[in-house]
Amino acid sequence: ILIDIAALLIGYLLGSIPFGLILTRLAGTQDLRSIGSGNIGATNVLRTGRKGLAAATLLGDALKGTVAVLIAGAFGGPEAAMLAALGAFLGHLFPVWLKFKGGKGVAVYIGVLLGLFWPGAIVFCVLWLATAFTARYSSLSALVAAFITPIFLWWFGHLQMASLFAILTLLLFWMHRDNIKRLMAGTEGKIGEKK
Ligand code: G3P
Repeated sequence: ILIDIAALLIGYLLGSIPFGLILTRLAGTQDLRSIGSGNIGATNVLRTGRKGLAAATLLGDALKGTVAVLIAGAFGGPEAAMLAALGAFLGHLFPVWLKFKGGKGVAVYIGVLLGLFWPGAIVFCVLWLATAFTARYSSLSALVAAFITPIFLWWFGHLQMASLFAILTLLLFWMHRDNIKRLMAGTEGKIGEKK
């Protein structure tokens, strides 16, 4: 049980590092909170016009999840790895340092999936890219990919992981509730638009 709590905690601490905020502050761009969606994720960093920073945010926010899973897995085994994944996701969504107002979870979802079951991360990315190329909405791409991922894991016979990612998907949908409203109203910004 101690190792499980430690895994959750290390996941949370790593997950709560807001790479988007840190990198844009270091680079001295506009305040993420005051542009676009106001979100701290890579999609909104892209709206500053800094593609490299957006890529670095995506990478940082994803890999903190991967690292958390790998560390916990090495010390505590598969169960600890899954708890670290949950912790990292919660840390990114609800970081104590930002008064619990964090990001929407897409990058860290990919990162923890990469650490737990890398084919799942590839499936997620393919679905994301396929949706993005056809519809050009970052949010919709994430929603489609996150909807299918738990089904894919279940179909692959990873029932525990499917349950974990079903929970992460529910949280991810909840964090995208404003995006979903905008998508339905036809007012969501497309990728490449600085809205
Ligand atoms: O990663 C979040 C993405 O799905 C939507 O971001 O900034 O358009 O709300 P944003």
